[in-house]
Amino acid sequence: MKGLILSGGRGTRLRPITYTSAKQLIPVANRPILYYGLEAIRASGIRDVGIVVGETHAEIKAAVGDGRRFGVKVTYLHQPEPLGLAHAVLVAEKFLAEKPFVMYLGDNLIKSGIQPLVQEFRLKKPNAMILLAHVPNPSHFGVAELKNGRVVRLTEKPKRPKTDLALVGVYMFDRHVFQAAKAIRPSFRGELEITDAIQWLVDRGYRVVPHVVEGWWKDTGRVEDILEANRMVLDTLESRIQGRVDKKSRVQFKVVIEKGARVVRSVIRGPAIIGEGSLIQDSYIGPFTSIDRGCRIERAEIEHSIVLAQSTLRDIPQRIEDSLIGRDVVISRSGGRPSVLRFMVGDASRVELA
Ligand code: G1P
Repeated sequence: MKGLILSGGRGTRLRPITYTSAKQLIPVANRPILYYGLEAIRASGIRDVGIVVGETHAEIKAAVGDGRRFGVKVTYLHQPEPLGLAHAVLVAEKFLAEKPFVMYLGDNLIKSGIQPLVQEFRLKKPNAMILLAHVPNPSHFGVAELKNGRVVRLTEKPKRPKTDLALVGVYMFDRHVFQAAKAIRPSFRGELEITDAIQWLVDRGYRVVPHVVEGWWKDTGRVEDILEANRMVLDTLESRIQGRVDKKSRVQFKVVIEKGARVVRSVIRGPAIIGEGSLIQDSYIGPFTSIDRGCRIERAEIEHSIVLAQSTLRDIPQRIEDSLIGRDVVISRSGGRPSVLRFMVGDASRVELA
């Protein structure tokens, strides 16, 4: 079997972060989301992986390389425009060479991995296998209707969903999916939907096996989702302190402090991770926080947040919460008069003062 990871898309719901970075590379517990998918595919025994890339191809290639680090061989496949998931399958047709494959959306995270499901697909050899999960907001997803355990209808982003069963971004197919992807027409959002391609298979009597995922799953399309994913992954970390923590600091619960990081007169209450070379001084880092490489947090308090590499938070009078802070950002207090707020924030940024 081959693997296909989709890593195109514009990530419009995560602007401004995605103006300068691919959404699949946003770090969760200080590692790009995409890495978790690659590892899940590798863990299911697949070595030959195609990654469909778009506008952000250079960055994805720089982050993943030839895949050797992950124990796989990566082939990059260029999708000139984000015209939908079924379109991405067609872009990969030659690479897939009629072999059965697992398709994994690069911004999805599935805690339990996919190994047993890939195994089941290999054994039972259906034409397709889809993963489903109960969600509170099904109209944001593709939604499935089942009858006696069989798939009868799949609808992409229905206004009035008939069930709460969302399509998870992991699918398995045999070669019939190419025929389906070629037969369907673009949807209301102008994309060739994989959901419609699977419906095409169902309508023609091909065997599409549903599997309801019981564990935790997240499509990280929005900030809240990324913070939640960060929460789940941090919770699974084992404590590891490789940096320096002075005697006046307290490190509580599960905390990872990477090489070269320094914690001075501060409290770190895990689960939390402090990236390589970062400095935490006279500060509080609360639960569910990831501070990436080379950051400086001085006289500030932050929790339930993600701070990307090389950013600075200095002399902040209130605790920062529920935030996603990009790379090379500086948030500080000047102390000058008059007492004003001064911003230079990118397009589509969000600043909330409570
Ligand atoms: C895509 C699929 C949708 C699926 C979702 C899972 O949505 O079209 O059916 O439920 O991924 O992450 P998109 O992320 O393109 O909005």
